[in-house]
Amino acid sequence: MTLPSVRKAIFPAAGLGTRFLPVTKAQPKEMLPLVDKPTIQYGVEEAIASGIEQVIMVTGGGKRAIVDHFDRSLELEHYLEQRGKSDLLHILSEVDDLSNQVDITYIQQKEPLGLGHAVWTARRLVEGEACAVLLADDVILSENQPVLKQLIDAHHMTGATVLAVRRVPRNEVSRYGIIATGGSKGGIHEIVDIVEKPPTADAPSDLAALGRYVLLPAVFAELDRAEPGAGKEIQLTDAIKRTIGRQPVVGLEFEGDYYDTGTVPGYLRANLMLAMKREGLRDELAPLLRELLEASPEPR
Ligand code: UTP
Repeated sequence: MTLPSVRKAIFPAAGLGTRFLPVTKAQPKEMLPLVDKPTIQYGVEEAIASGIEQVIMVTGGGKRAIVDHFDRSLELEHYLEQRGKSDLLHILSEVDDLSNQVDITYIQQKEPLGLGHAVWTARRLVEGEACAVLLADDVILSENQPVLKQLIDAHHMTGATVLAVRRVPRNEVSRYGIIATGGSKGGIHEIVDIVEKPPTADAPSDLAALGRYVLLPAVFAELDRAEPGAGKEIQLTDAIKRTIGRQPVVGLEFEGDYYDTGTVPGYLRANLMLAMKREGLRDELAPLLRELLEASPEPR
């Protein structure tokens, strides 16, 4: 039986972004730029390229900038038109065009009670369908298939809830949700357990779940009865875990370059790496980086 296509993608974007204070006091973390584009735009572009028809943004207080970003700015367009800035108008039209290619719906998470709760907030909009979840913090760029498309394909092959997984160094496992695997085939691992942020010695593997999911409706049924877990938040992984054994759950080792922009060091690293891939910027940055290294060589 062919499964229906995955048409909807939830973007939880109602967190407080406390690791980035003070910049996130009055500005959503998802609007912080990677070079010159907000992180959430990378995710929306990936969703569109993966065939998604409806993006559901879960937002909270102080997230107006996200709505404005995906809306037209007639005032700015007029200003640029009057000055004949066609190159800048083109950039604006590219952003504007995203909301022509996909419907963007906004829903409020009234209190930031955790990622699981944010996803649950969108339950009525995805009722009865498998849907995607993308975390804007995790930017994943792939030259070939967008990573969400890779997950959707894996969902169609297996009929399962699919998590994006990647091998991480053993000494970093305590930062992630780590999966325990049963059988594996062609980069798809059957998931038999998920352990959230385990100490290195207790990690069941080195395969970490990152911010892309395709969820079966059963996960929402679990979120319906979820109780706060670690950090007093409702965890998405807890709900996924409770479906194991009753519903298929797999991890897909995806292809693509992964940038964790959710921490200050990760964010700075991502900016530098992406800037160095831009022709014009690379020429300016490369000598500067060399200069900085020479001025402060590594401590011995
Ligand atoms: P994070 O834990 O990375 O985001 O959640 P955060 O809570 O905003 O950041 P810190 O830890 O305080 O620095 C992952 C994603 O889930 C969303 C966040 O906006 C982020 O995109 N989220 C998190 C919600 O939408 N609601 C929540 O209650 C929690």
